[in-house]
Amino acid sequence: MAMLKTVILVGGPSNGTRFRPLSLDIPKPLFPVAGFPMIYHHIEAASKVSNMKEIILIGSYQKDQQLIKFMTSMQQEFKILVNYFQEFTALGTAGGLYHFRDQIQSGNPELFFVMNADVCGDFPLQQMVQFHRTVAEGDHFTLLATEATRQQSLNYGCIVEDKATHRVEHYVEKPGTFVSMLISCGIYLFGPQIFDHIGHVFKERQVELAYNLESKLETSNVIHMEQDVFAKLLSGSGLLYVYHTNNFWSQLKSAGAAIYANRHYLNIYKSTHPERLAKSAKDYPTIIGDVYIHPSATVHPTACLGPNVTIEKDVVVHAGVRIRESIVLEGSIIQDHCCILHSIIGWHSVVGEWTRIEGTPNDPNPNKPFAKIEVQDLFNPEGKLSPSITVLGSNVRIPSEVIILNSIVLPGKLLETSYKNQIVL
Ligand code: GDD
Repeated sequence: MAMLKTVILVGGPSNGTRFRPLSLDIPKPLFPVAGFPMIYHHIEAASKVSNMKEIILIGSYQKDQQLIKFMTSMQQEFKILVNYFQEFTALGTAGGLYHFRDQIQSGNPELFFVMNADVCGDFPLQQMVQFHRTVAEGDHFTLLATEATRQQSLNYGCIVEDKATHRVEHYVEKPGTFVSMLISCGIYLFGPQIFDHIGHVFKERQVELAYNLESKLETSNVIHMEQDVFAKLLSGSGLLYVYHTNNFWSQLKSAGAAIYANRHYLNIYKSTHPERLAKSAKDYPTIIGDVYIHPSATVHPTACLGPNVTIEKDVVVHAGVRIRESIVLEGSIIQDHCCILHSIIGWHSVVGEWTRIEGTPNDPNPNKPFAKIEVQDLFNPEGKLSPSITVLGSNVRIPSEVIILNSIVLPGKLLETSYKNQIVL
């Protein structure tokens, strides 16, 4: 029986800048959303595909204890081989694959998924395999796509297809003007033939390098799947096909997007893992809507949580606390009668009594069909901090009876007063 693999492109320390200060403490792909690391959700989805034998992470993070611990726990939970291959420098979304092509091809997988780490969703991977096997015969490749608004489509890979055959006719990465509302989800299904196509681009680069001494050696190996490889594939024969999904899907590039993704993953648990969702009961906190509480957390029975709240490992929530649309990270202490709205509370932070921590969500416009979350600039054109969710870095201490509104607090800060629309450095 033909076997499959999944490659997750996790990037490296130079990615994830829009995720600061949270990415200062943890590689962005391991940031927990709905109680589990971002790429746990990818691995869980991939492990459900028939004959999936190996998950390969490719990136330029150091293989440290955090990563090793995560990989070991994934192997145990999903009974699947998990490997990490480290790029010596960022090689681009196709360069990394090409560099580790022997490892990916070992055991002769028939097909392999490539998934961007910084997306979230209800990934229809098994359906993609079925589509791929029936849409054409031979050496073709399949992209997962969804719709965006006209204006937002410009931030994504845009696809024009032949509606009858689902063959991709045109692909433009982040076009300057409107091309199509059909956008790439950053999830591909490839056969080993993809390496011939990346190999052509690689060899062209080597020739260019040999004749152009001004080009930089370190950039010669950087190959982008979207700009370099797909463009070549389309100028030759029509080997790219597109599978549409209307399932939940979003990019996950900012802390605001983590709150949005948290809400959607909790909602998915209703059908996939109802046991993960907390339920109101006698002598138990009041639960509104979807809430995840780690079994090791302690929540006072007079607290009220939800909707869309995640309480991580070893968190302590005291009496009378109200939390909604927020993520409280491992080891934090939320003291009596605090109110936390649209915020992320960093690891081992302490929020004093009667304090209010509040942010402003930047959710997609619900009245616009297919609207996606906007990647906001930190500052507006007047130089003011754009209103956003409030983020406390790790080990922050917030005193009693203050208000922290639309602010970002860097790790280790001990605040003494209220803050509004500020980055506390
Ligand atoms: N291993 C590795 N090496 N991973 C990388 C590298 C690299 O050099 N560069 C980027 N990545 C990873 C990132 O960590 C991320 O998970 C993913 O590849 C895509 O990153 P970007 O290059 O930032 O692309 P993007 O997110 O702006 O756009 C991509 O995703 C969109 C969907 O979210 C493109 O594929 C678009 O076409 C697509 O619409």
